[in-house]
Amino acid sequence: MKSLPILFSVAASLASASAIALESERIPTGASITVPRHDPQFDPSLMSRGGEQGKQKDSWGNAIEKDRKKVTIRASKHDRDDISDDFLWAIKKANHGGLLHLEKGKKYVIGKKLDLSFLKDIYVKIDGELKFTNDIDYWQANNFYYDFQKSITFWVWGGEDIKIYGSGVINGNGQKWWDGFAGSEILDPDNEYYRPILFLTDNATNVEVKGLHLKDSPCWTNFFVRSNNIVFDDVYISAVSTNASTLPKNTDGFDSLNVAGLTVLNTRVNVGDDCFSPKPNTSDILVRNLWCNGTHGVSMGSIGQYPGVLDYIANAHIENVTLLNGENGARLKAWAGPDVGYGYIRNVTYKDIHVENTDNPIVLDQCYFNINSTVCAENPSQVDITDIKFINVYGTSSGKKGRVVADLTCSPGATCSGIHLEDIDITSPKGGPSQIVCENIQGDIGVDCIPKNEADN
Ligand SMILES: *[C@@H]1O[C@H](CO)[C@@H](O)[C@H](O)[C@H]1NC(C)=O
Ligand SMILES: *[C@@H]1O[C@H](CO)[C@@H](O)[C@H](O)[C@H]1NC(C)=O
Ligand SMILES: *[C@@H]1O[C@H](CO)[C@@H](O)[C@H](O)[C@H]1NC(C)=O
Ligand SMILES: *[C@@H]1O[C@H](CO)[C@@H](O)[C@H](O)[C@H]1NC(C)=O
Ligand SMILES: *[C@@H]1O[C@H](CO)[C@@H](O)[C@H](O)[C@H]1NC(C)=O
Ligand SMILES: *[C@@H]1O[C@H](CO)[C@@H](O)[C@H](O)[C@H]1NC(C)=O
Ligand SMILES: *[C@@H]1O[C@H](CO)[C@@H](O)[C@H](O)[C@H]1NC(C)=O
Repeated sequence: MKSLPILFSVAASLASASAIALESERIPTGASITVPRHDPQFDPSLMSRGGEQGKQKDSWGNAIEKDRKKVTIRASKHDRDDISDDFLWAIKKANHGGLLHLEKGKKYVIGKKLDLSFLKDIYVKIDGELKFTNDIDYWQANNFYYDFQKSITFWVWGGEDIKIYGSGVINGNGQKWWDGFAGSEILDPDNEYYRPILFLTDNATNVEVKGLHLKDSPCWTNFFVRSNNIVFDDVYISAVSTNASTLPKNTDGFDSLNVAGLTVLNTRVNVGDDCFSPKPNTSDILVRNLWCNGTHGVSMGSIGQYPGVLDYIANAHIENVTLLNGENGARLKAWAGPDVGYGYIRNVTYKDIHVENTDNPIVLDQCYFNINSTVCAENPSQVDITDIKFINVYGTSSGKKGRVVADLTCSPGATCSGIHLEDIDITSPKGGPSQIVCENIQGDIGVDCIPKNEADN
């Protein structure tokens, strides 16, 4: 990277003298640092409110946008003009109370893996486009790897109080990845064509992502690992293939592992796999006003896959979700069969769920994955499923499962109790009364249901 000594040509007029002294150093070509004015002389309201102490704070008690030092970097000139060194420099500069701004109408290309695990109180405002290169050979040799479902990512975000927001785009440039993956399966043990996750936090506390468009991830769009208090608000996630012969496979909207506190509000997801799908050890989940199109649904799990390992999902409230043209609506899945794990799914409420043209509007599967009833009876699930509510689920199925609109299949001899359905009004294009299937559930479920062998299909 070419660096020139630039001393705040534009910024100086706004900067206080002490700030200039602090920041007088070499900064990359095209970058700038602007320090806010903290002088009460020019802002009498600060005096009356007690100077620094009286200042407005964000929800984590940190400075709000206008009181932050602002860092900018040069934009890329074309899709191979990698600015990742500048980006990393700017993240370090903005860390501890500052803001990095990627400006509207500009493109910033990332072509190198980035370790951003050291953050503490940073705002990253993305009004332009942050785009990853699609150099498959590079990324497959250079990434961050996670054992869980053999996941890789371009970058890792970790630390505390991280806000990423704006009107811009984070673009995973996934088309070439999806084309290259055509014909492969992610869960195939022989698959070695790993594809990066677009956004990943690890060991992060207090992360807010707001307003952005997360576009065309090569694989899962978001994955949160051992993190606490993740909030997404007003985000659009899309993964749409322009190649008629390839699908944007495994582009899940949201996945998590060992996470406490996961909130998704006012978000739209248009991808080729799960819309929202917390994985093992996720608790305190809130989803409100979510729209999903063409997805595999809002799915708790699967959990209980790995022998000897305890997994859980607890305390989830999912409200006002619209699911169109997908495989599933509201779904819970836990493994059964030989050589699986154990744990529980507890206290999950789905409320006000609108489905249209959905194959399986309501699914509870305690004989995952594709375990038939004989094998499931011999090796029942050791994941207890308790206190699950489906309230006000309405709309239409696709008719792919005949008149069945809800399928609640528990393992014989397993714990599956406190399952409650209320105000279920889903019609099938096959006509006639809809069917709700239930197997091996303890207690009354609140609606009439029939065993599998009496249902369509
Ligand atoms: C997690 O992050 C904290 C700081 O936020 C750090 O002290 C700790 O070492 C990190 N843990 C791991 C396992 O990286
Ligand atoms: C679409 O994907 C297929 C499968 O990978 C590939 O053979 C083909 O070249 C792609 N088409 C275009 C226009 O890139
Ligand atoms: C429900 O979510 C939709 C977005 O899918 C939103 O337009 C609508 O306002 C929400 N309804 C309520 C009552 O918040
Ligand atoms: C929903 O997804 C279907 C494909 O599954 C697509 O044809 C349609 O354009 C999408 N609708 C919207 C509003 O994005
Ligand atoms: C889930 O948490 C339990 C208990 O803390 C732990 O033993 C287990 O390894 C975790 N599961 C995963 C998949 O990390
Ligand atoms: C169930 O989960 C909700 C959050 O969705 C929480 O407020 C409530 O306290 C939980 N109930 C129990 C008994 O843990
Ligand atoms: C159930 O699955 C097992 C293992 O795949 C298979 O051997 C058995 O024939 C299946 N039984 C039925 C009734 O399909």
